[in-house]
Amino acid sequence: MTPDINPLLDCAVAAARKAGDHALANRDRRREANSVSPHDIKLKLDVECQAIAEGVIRNTFPDHAILGEEDPRTGTAAETPKFDPDTVRWVIDPIDGTVNFAHGLPRWCCSIGVLQGERPVAGAIYAPVLGKLYTATHESDAMCNGEPIHVSDTATLKQSIVMTGVDRHRDGSVPPLAVFTALADTVQRPRIMGVAALDMCYVAEGGGDGYIETGIFLWDIAAATLIVEQAGGKTEILKHEPGHRLQCLASNGHIHAELKDVVLRALGHA
Ligand code: IPD
Repeated sequence: MTPDINPLLDCAVAAARKAGDHALANRDRRREANSVSPHDIKLKLDVECQAIAEGVIRNTFPDHAILGEEDPRTGTAAETPKFDPDTVRWVIDPIDGTVNFAHGLPRWCCSIGVLQGERPVAGAIYAPVLGKLYTATHESDAMCNGEPIHVSDTATLKQSIVMTGVDRHRDGSVPPLAVFTALADTVQRPRIMGVAALDMCYVAEGGGDGYIETGIFLWDIAAATLIVEQAGGKTEILKHEPGHRLQCLASNGHIHAELKDVVLRALGHA
């Protein structure tokens, strides 16, 4: 059964705002870490913000499933389970762009996606320093701060800005900047800005034309894929890997096939 969508969106917005505002209010604690690895950092505030978002969701929907980046059980699963098409699942990234946040850069956000089965049905992405709240449901337009947004009409890859990341492939088979290097030869400008959810929101509002990461996680993109689609764009999961890891491509639709071709060649698949 399809759930009533507006209460889901309202709750996603409330959770994203409360978690994001907590991170913002505690910016002076941004370097307090639970663990630091060569290319990542796990912050105490990540865990606090996730608990805050979960609290908001559980108050309204105590029976719904929640998948959070900072849940100690998350990411350890050898296989990502398939969900019943009626199951409602909340997918939380409490601070996307954690490294940006820890260094005091303004580009970070809280992302809350609501999935029914495998399908995103509502999402909210809140970037407190930028003062932006992106929202969408599967029944309505994508919005930024309550105003409808739309993807660009850029027609070719060579006129495009495409955002990506530094993708560390688990098996080491592809160099971390293989896709970036291929894009640098093809697009007007590639960008690495360090926040997947916001990269995709830029595609949704037409500031960028495409986004590709080949080592990203469900919590980074759950809300953002819906926002791109409802803004008139196209998203595609090129590959599912264990532990909620994905290869995700998003675009304004016009450059999709061309972008996919460049990515697959860079990965050695074409
Ligand atoms: C990261 C950011 C980054 C992307 C990484 C993600 P996190 O998420 O979205 O842009 O390149 O792949 O893991 O760890 O800051 O939530």
